[in-house]
Amino acid sequence: MHLTDEERSWLVGAAGSATRRAMEIVVALGKIYGAERLIPVASVQISGVSYRNIGDAGLEFLRRWAGEGARVRVPTTLNPTALDLSGWRAQGFAPDFAAKQQAVVDVFARMGVGGGHPLPTCTPYLVGVLPQPGEHIAWAESSAVVYANSVLGARTNREGGPGAIAAAIAGRTGAYGLHLDAGRLATLRVEVRATPRTVADYSALGALVGQVAGRRVPYFVGLPLERDTPLWQEKLKTLGAALAATGAVALYHVAGVTPEARATEMLAAEHEQLVIDDLAAGYAMFNDDVETVDLVWIGCPHASLDEIARVAEQVRGKHLLLPLWITCARPVKEAAIAQGLAGDIEAAGGRVFADACMAIAPARELGFRAVATVSAKGAFYLRNLAGVATRFGTLEQCIEAAVAGRWGG
Ligand code: F3S
Repeated sequence: MHLTDEERSWLVGAAGSATRRAMEIVVALGKIYGAERLIPVASVQISGVSYRNIGDAGLEFLRRWAGEGARVRVPTTLNPTALDLSGWRAQGFAPDFAAKQQAVVDVFARMGVGGGHPLPTCTPYLVGVLPQPGEHIAWAESSAVVYANSVLGARTNREGGPGAIAAAIAGRTGAYGLHLDAGRLATLRVEVRATPRTVADYSALGALVGQVAGRRVPYFVGLPLERDTPLWQEKLKTLGAALAATGAVALYHVAGVTPEARATEMLAAEHEQLVIDDLAAGYAMFNDDVETVDLVWIGCPHASLDEIARVAEQVRGKHLLLPLWITCARPVKEAAIAQGLAGDIEAAGGRVFADACMAIAPARELGFRAVATVSAKGAFYLRNLAGVATRFGTLEQCIEAAVAGRWGG
């Protein structure tokens, strides 16, 4: 692998042991994937933040690295934690757990993540971190990766947890995969004959296609989606999240809509075909046979202000029998409070929580056995990580469940 003089000097410790360790990881990953050089990255997004997932061993690993002097070289953001860092009591977390989760965030703050004040979210692009088309970045959260590549036209591979931290400290990543033109051509043409309308429909579509696509790049034709129409970005946000959950998709194109597919047909000469006639199977994948639901969760990926406004519209004046939790980035929560949306939701019995993701929270310990959601990705990880049953439907179905106290009215 070709390295610059500066990179070679960092690799032998000229910038300290923390940078040397980061460079060792970045170079090793680059070699594994056949990178011929490293490239500077404009931003990094780090995953693996939930104390439930990383535990004391992960916390200790981070503390050691920070203690060696690890500091990020480029603007870096943090994935959600298990809880709302200031509202965890209302979620029912134990103080010990909350203290450990805060300790994880504090270590990242010491490293300079978020300029020393991390705002944990899986949607940094909703709170001002907007990579430019063609810009090289190193992001880790799968739904953020697929959004950055597909909707923003930036370039990132799906970084692992330690790999992203190393990229932030080194300010570099290996030039391979989706950083290169050749990696960005689609090899699966997906003809959509069904008519997805709602955000949840796009999630169901993503779940179906992700299962078939695996790591491939899908190219959608026939989607009834136009830029700058209501919720168009939210639809693409949830489509990508589901593609990345049931598959390992990190980039997709929508003919005429996403940046690269507006300019040219991003389809490789050799490709396979997939036809989607119906979305019912996508919903069926995450609908367990349960009527009793303990929680309705909206905000996977983290909700935009428009999505919160839709929820507020639907619950205004109603009395919810089930807890309804909306998760979002902290600045979005603050905007929802300022606009009175959070107040309307709370008046009905719901809550808006910042920083948090229910899929990486200890949902069963919080007393939840079955959760309803509008997100196939949320349902996928609730089942697989949190071990709860799921219901997956439209926002209307989820609100109906919250009002009725059970799924299905
Ligand atoms: Fe975000 Fe958690 Fe969903 S990280 S995409 S809210 S599973």
